[in-house]
Amino acid sequence: MTNKYMYFIANWKMFGDLRTLNSLDKVIKFSKINKRKSKLIYCPPNTLIRPMSKRLQKTKIEVGAQNCHVSDSYGAFTGSVNSKMLKNVGAKYIILGHSENRQEGESDKLINLKIRSAIKSGLKIIFCIGETLKEKRNKRTNQVLSNQINKGLKSIRNKSDIIVAYEPFWSIGTGIIPKSKDLIKSVNFIKNKFGSKPPKILYGGSVNNQNISQLKNISGIDGFLIGGASQDPKKFIDIIKKTYN
Ligand code: PGA
Repeated sequence: MTNKYMYFIANWKMFGDLRTLNSLDKVIKFSKINKRKSKLIYCPPNTLIRPMSKRLQKTKIEVGAQNCHVSDSYGAFTGSVNSKMLKNVGAKYIILGHSENRQEGESDKLINLKIRSAIKSGLKIIFCIGETLKEKRNKRTNQVLSNQINKGLKSIRNKSDIIVAYEPFWSIGTGIIPKSKDLIKSVNFIKNKFGSKPPKILYGGSVNNQNISQLKNISGIDGFLIGGASQDPKKFIDIIKKTYN
């Protein structure tokens, strides 16, 4: 049983419309009776940041965004939204470096610039890192993680507003999670990279209300970034409850 302060971050990806927000009622109710030391954060698509923030106004649940444009000023970038605009509509956090965006061509350099711009806008960062299956098979996990951290956080001195989410590419949406011993190794590796002031480190990738019983035992993990399972309020609550059982 853990007594630690844990993060539970819902990454809704491209999911949800105004009606979906009704599903929050169950989670709001739960959060009011939940006495465990925990932080719940919802990262919906941009279209829902404002209405969700309003709905969660009198609760301790916070709202985050999933990505942003690199520029922190207005510009001719059709279809884009910057971190200041996201902050303006209620986001307090932002996921950056997610593998689904890396796969679409986001470089470590671009992620670094986005992180800097989002910090400047006053957002807290959920910085995603993780190796591909090929990199894992070639025993390059540590090298990849190290590189992503060095480049992604380059020249960022104050890291107090950064949370790291370790999400192996191959575990996202596949139902497969790393072996406990491998996960412990990666989490420790990440922690050690930061020296005496390590950030909070979350695990993400196929977290569900079954495998949470195994994942909660991994020491060094400060919470979870949850995709698919977070879309169902019952499953999301179950994950939180089981973390403390
Ligand atoms: P998943 O997604 O839980 O659906 O695997 C996690 C994520 O992409 O953050």
